[in-house]
This record gives sequence, C-alpha cells and structure tokens, in this order.
Amino acid sequence: MCGIVGYIGHRNAYPIIINGLKRLEYRGYDSAGLALFNHDLISKKTKGKVADLEQLFVTKAETEGHIGLGHTRWATHGEPNDINAHPHISNSGNLVIVHNGIIENYDAIKQTLIQRGYQFESDTDTEVLVNLIEDVMRNEKVGLGKAVQMALNEVVGAYAIVVFDKQNPDEMVMARLGSPLAIGIGEEEYFIASDATPFIEFTKNAMYLEDEQMAIIKRGAEPDIRNIKDDSKILPYIQELQLSLDQIEKGGYEHFMLKEIYEQPNVLRDTMRGRVLPEKNLIKLSGIDNYLNKFLNADRIIMIGAGTSWHAGLVGEYLFEELARIPVEVEYSSEFRYRNPIIKDNDIVMPVSQSGETADTLAAIKLAKEKNAFIYAICNVVGSSIPRESDSGTYTHAGPEIGVASTKAFTTQVMVMAMMALKLAKEKGTISMSEYNLYLSELAQIPEKIEKTLKTDLYIQQIAHFYKDATNALYLGRGFNFPVALEGALKLKEISYIHAEGYPAAEMKHGPIALIDENMPVFVIATKKGQYEKIVSNIQEIKSRKGKIIAIVTEGDTQVKNLADHVIEIPETLEAFTPLLATIPLQLLSYYIAVYRGCNVDQPRNLAKSVTVE
Ligand code: M6R
Repeated sequence: MCGIVGYIGHRNAYPIIINGLKRLEYRGYDSAGLALFNHDLISKKTKGKVADLEQLFVTKAETEGHIGLGHTRWATHGEPNDINAHPHISNSGNLVIVHNGIIENYDAIKQTLIQRGYQFESDTDTEVLVNLIEDVMRNEKVGLGKAVQMALNEVVGAYAIVVFDKQNPDEMVMARLGSPLAIGIGEEEYFIASDATPFIEFTKNAMYLEDEQMAIIKRGAEPDIRNIKDDSKILPYIQELQLSLDQIEKGGYEHFMLKEIYEQPNVLRDTMRGRVLPEKNLIKLSGIDNYLNKFLNADRIIMIGAGTSWHAGLVGEYLFEELARIPVEVEYSSEFRYRNPIIKDNDIVMPVSQSGETADTLAAIKLAKEKNAFIYAICNVVGSSIPRESDSGTYTHAGPEIGVASTKAFTTQVMVMAMMALKLAKEKGTISMSEYNLYLSELAQIPEKIEKTLKTDLYIQQIAHFYKDATNALYLGRGFNFPVALEGALKLKEISYIHAEGYPAAEMKHGPIALIDENMPVFVIATKKGQYEKIVSNIQEIKSRKGKIIAIVTEGDTQVKNLADHVIEIPETLEAFTPLLATIPLQLLSYYIAVYRGCNVDQPRNLAKSVTVE
C-alpha cells in the first residue's frame, strides 16, 4: 500500500512525478521520496507528505531530468522516517528502486548479502531487494531486466517495483505480484503508476501489468513484457482510459470526502444508467444475464469484503434474502482466506471492493477459485485486479474515490446489490409484478431523495458541533439498518478518532447499555418502516439512562421526536432502500465532527485508501 510514480521520455519528469504522488497520497502518506537522473542521480526523501518532499527540491538542476521515479509510503517494515522512505539505492549507488508491497523472506536474503559485504542503512525489505538485484547483475553478468527477473524469482511476498540504473538512464524495469501497476503509453514516453490518475492528462492509453509480469521499457521502443517465472513474452493489451481530470479534483469542496458525499445523487444515477429502466419494467445487468442460470440455481451467495465493503455486503444479505430468497453469508476476506471454507457447486462467491486491489479480498478470491467457485465481483475501479480475477461482475461506477473514508463507494455498492436482488427476484418470481414495479420506481427515485437528505447539512453541522468533544459513541439500527449503524461507527472512528461501536439495537441490553450515561451520544436509525416500535422501545431504554439520542427518522415522525435530543429527517422509502438514505446524515455527521476536531479528514492517521498488504 504505497504509491509509485515513474516517468521516462522527452518531458521533464519532476513535475509529473510530484503531481502524480499528490494524487496517490491516498495510498499512504507517512513519507515520500523522488529520484531523477540529470547527469547524475538526484535522490531526496523525507518523513511526511509530498508537500514536505517538494520543499527539498530547490534548484533548477535538482528539478530536471527525463527519467525518474517517486514514492509515497505507508510503512510496513521500519518506522516512517527519512531513512526508511523510498527510493532506495543499491550499495554501488547505481540502482534506484521504489516498491509497494512486502518481501517476506527479506531477512534471510539480507543476512546472505551482509556476508557478501553489503551494508544497509534502513530497516526496509526494499533496500534488501535493490541490493539483491545488484548482486545478481554483478555475479551473473546480466542486464538490469534479467537481474530483476532472477532476483524476483528468489523472493517471497508481494510487490510492485520500478527500478532503473543510472548507468543506463534510457531504460526502466518494473514488475508486479499482488500490488497494482499501470503503464501509460504516450508518444515515445512512458508513465508508470500505482493507478492511472497520475498520468491521465498526458495519455488515455494504458496497460496494467498482471501478477507475475514484468516490463522493460526503453525510450522510443515497444515495451518488452515477460512472465517473471518462465520468461515467456506477453503481448501488451492496451486499453483506453475512461477517467477524466475533473473527476479527480476537489471541485470547490474543502475536502474530497465532502465532495464525494455530495456526488452521491449523481453517481447513483450513473450506477443505474442504462440498467434500471422503469419504463420497460426492466433491470439490465449483463454480468448476470451472461450467467443467468448460475444465479437462478444458486444455493448460496458468499459475500467477501473488508471494512465498508463488508458492511455493504451485510446490506446485500438482507436484500438478496428478502427479495430473491437466496441465502447469503457475509465474510471478512481476511478470515475467509485462512479458513478452509466449504464452497459447493451452486454457490456464488461475491467479492465486494471499491479499489479492486484489497490484498485480503484478492487472496480470498484466489482460494475460492482453487475450489472451483464461480466469482462475481462488485467493484468500482475498472480494470483493477479483483474484477480481472473474477468470472463476471458489475462495476459500481462511483468514479474515483479519493477520501480514505468510503462514502459514495458504499452507496453505489448497495445500489448494485439492490439492482441485482430485484432483477433476480423478478426472474425467480419471488416477488409479485406489482411489488417489482413498486421497488423499481422507488429505486429510480433514490438519487432525488438523497438530494433532499443533503439539505439537512446545516442542521447536521450544529449537531456535529454539539458532539465534537465526545470520547465514545454508539450507533444502533435494526434489520436493513443494522449494517448502517456499523458503517456510521466506522466513519466516525476512522476520521475523528472518537471510539465508536455499531450494534443491532436489540443487542444493546446484552452489554453496551452498561456504557450509557449522560456523556454518551447514541446515534439511532429509527425510520418508520421495519421494526419501528421495537426501536422506539430501545430509544426509551437509552433515555431512561440519560444517554444523548441523535435519531435518523422518517419525514413527519412525531413519536421519536418527542424522545430524542436531535432528530434528522430523511424522506420515506421502502424499508429495503433505507440504508441508501440513512447513511447520508451519518457520513455528514462524521465529516463535520472530524473537521471541528481539526482532523485530517481525507488522510486520517495510520490509514491508506487501498490496502494492498495483508
Ligand atoms: O477497496 P476496498 O473496498 O476493498 O477497501 C476495503 C476497506 O479497506 C475500506 O472499505 C476501508 O474500511 C475504508 N477506509 C472505510 O471507509
């Protein structure tokens, strides 16, 4: 989980790399570094952000070069400090490398290299790798490409690396196993990055390295792509990127997170575009249509995911079971991958992921494939590893999500699951046609209802100000809104560092009720549909223990209004779709509480957007 940018070509590499690193800071931001070649190697790195790194490059000579690479780090081996920051340089001073991933057997390799006279400055696995490559070059008398290949065949772990040799500054070598790497292809120039955002203004033509592939690129020549294990040559598959520059800029909002919260009505329209067709009573999802029999005969869906994507899977469980009557299990990818899960012929394994690169989810998919499972991915990033590893799937079309806290990724994932469940309910006849039509027309109105919900923003700011100094918080919901409570708590803790827990409301009396006193804010999703009376009783229980109640209620509610300290109204919708609306005020509450506490909303401490390490 780190960001990598590289460039080789006729332009000045420095601004491309610095600006590219800023776009990749969501992948890690505890230290940063950049190396360029301009008559000699210039390499600088520092603890802190890319903005801190920029301060170190002062003179014209330091900021010019036609080949270079940069890195923004999320520490795995060695604390975040100047020395452990990337790039790392080999003992001879010739080879320079950036790396995203973990070399698991680095210590054994390091000991061997030390015996051969190599010295190490940092605690990183990456410094070991660059010296291993140098050692192979020296002993085997091979060029950089071959040495990288031979060295990688000795390491165990995960990597995306880019390396060049200052003695041959017209060539760059890169390789991938488990961590993403995209190559942008321009006119006699190449851009390399962890995703395509750093080079989107320069070229729309890109290729993605697959696992166990490496590429040797030279100015003015076709890329030479090889399988790392058997050296077989691979034809490049170049695709046209759909991403635009506006999509990855803040557009006047103070933070990406706020922009992304406000984008939800429009991105949900994108999620449904050409798929939800109420005038034709139709939901078109080619991923399902191509495998309809698999879905009609499915005995079980096993959802796998992490964090927010796992929460979306929980909402999916309610949707698929309620509408399509397909049993669903929802598993943390990190647990699933290390169990010996039972997967039967008629099971569908459904990974859910915004980034498409989460290491645990990828590993869980690989395990499921070994057991011959059919894999159907729900993913946002087109062309990322998870959809590529899957048999079929549906993209969420949320657009780039830069804020580390997932917002629009969650609602679009839930929307995809709602579309799938509804389509299957119709195909299987598990709901009547009139129910289907009602669901369909309600689904189409969700973006408008989110627009209305967003109008509570000013009032939410006041509530947020009131609770900004809380040290703990509880989130409660029932049925479809139980996962919303989990998601609300996750949002608060990850960006404001307030300890928060989500619970099914009825579980409160089995433990968490002991925590309630006049200092405890309790956020309750108490919408009219579903088990309303039961949740009103839960609210009474909180009130009698003097807890502070902030309730999300259906427009026009009076009963909860009389009990709660604050109520936030959302428009009425079908119970199955309430998560799409109830989530919005909870996102805004977390956002404003974090802003009032002075937290870095888009880049919270210790987190990274894309968790490509275990
Ligand atoms: O990219 P993914 O959806 O696979 O990521 C999963 C989690 O890492 C992610 O949802 C994380 O929990 C977010 N920070 C939550 O806001």
